[in-house]
Amino acid sequence: MSEVRRFADIEALSRAATGEFVALARDAIDRRGRFSVALAGGSTPRRVYELLSSPDHRAAVDWDRVEFFWGDERVVPPDHPDSNYGMAFAVLLAPLAVPSSRVHRIKAERLDLEEAAREYHMEIARVLGAEAAGPPPAFDLILLGMGADGHTASLFPYSEALPERRRWVVSHYVARLGARRITLTPPILNRAREIRVLVAGADKASTLHEVLEGPRDPERLPVQLVAPESGRLVWLVDQAAAAKLHGTA
Ligand code: 6PG
Repeated sequence: MSEVRRFADIEALSRAATGEFVALARDAIDRRGRFSVALAGGSTPRRVYELLSSPDHRAAVDWDRVEFFWGDERVVPPDHPDSNYGMAFAVLLAPLAVPSSRVHRIKAERLDLEEAAREYHMEIARVLGAEAAGPPPAFDLILLGMGADGHTASLFPYSEALPERRRWVVSHYVARLGARRITLTPPILNRAREIRVLVAGADKASTLHEVLEGPRDPERLPVQLVAPESGRLVWLVDQAAAAKLHGTA
């Protein structure tokens, strides 16, 4: 089951997502002593990261108990402007002075990307206390975005990673980008306790309508593969992206 929450604009969406992040982090830390989160790349979550590290929110979470991961990474060095890690480091991790022992980035600058994917798998297993050869563990929260082509994380339409059933992380060539990406796979995404998909902008309205209200076609619209086994999936969308949804507000 998924829920769709609509907001007037990206600022309102970002404020709501920030509030949910804080509440989920506090709850996980109270219950289990820590909070594991996989951050989204792309531009939409940037404002959420800024708000989280702002004076209004930085004291709301015990940041030393947060384990930071990423849903996907582009094949660039960590200081490259396209790096998903780099963006989160600049606006969230550096301002909060998060200790590097809590930051588990995907080392996509490696020459051997298969090795980088395996290493990230092992890091997830180690930090989340899971058997590396066993079923995927549950992140407390996974933040995702959606591209206008229906991709999420680096699960692009018709790409190799979509049918993956066993591996938690894959490195694959995305023909439409002419580039490789490293991404979490559907089996681990769907183990998450909580998933929030952040979608803003008029260019995503038709796709969002097809994804949420059209027939199931996950090869073409990979974000439809996001369906947590027992966790909660909430879409946070702005009015521009929601413009073609028929469902009630
Ligand atoms: C990436 C992302 C990707 C992103 C969407 C939406 O590395 O590109 O993780 O899945 O979330 O492309 O991106 P925007 O927020 O920039 O629209």
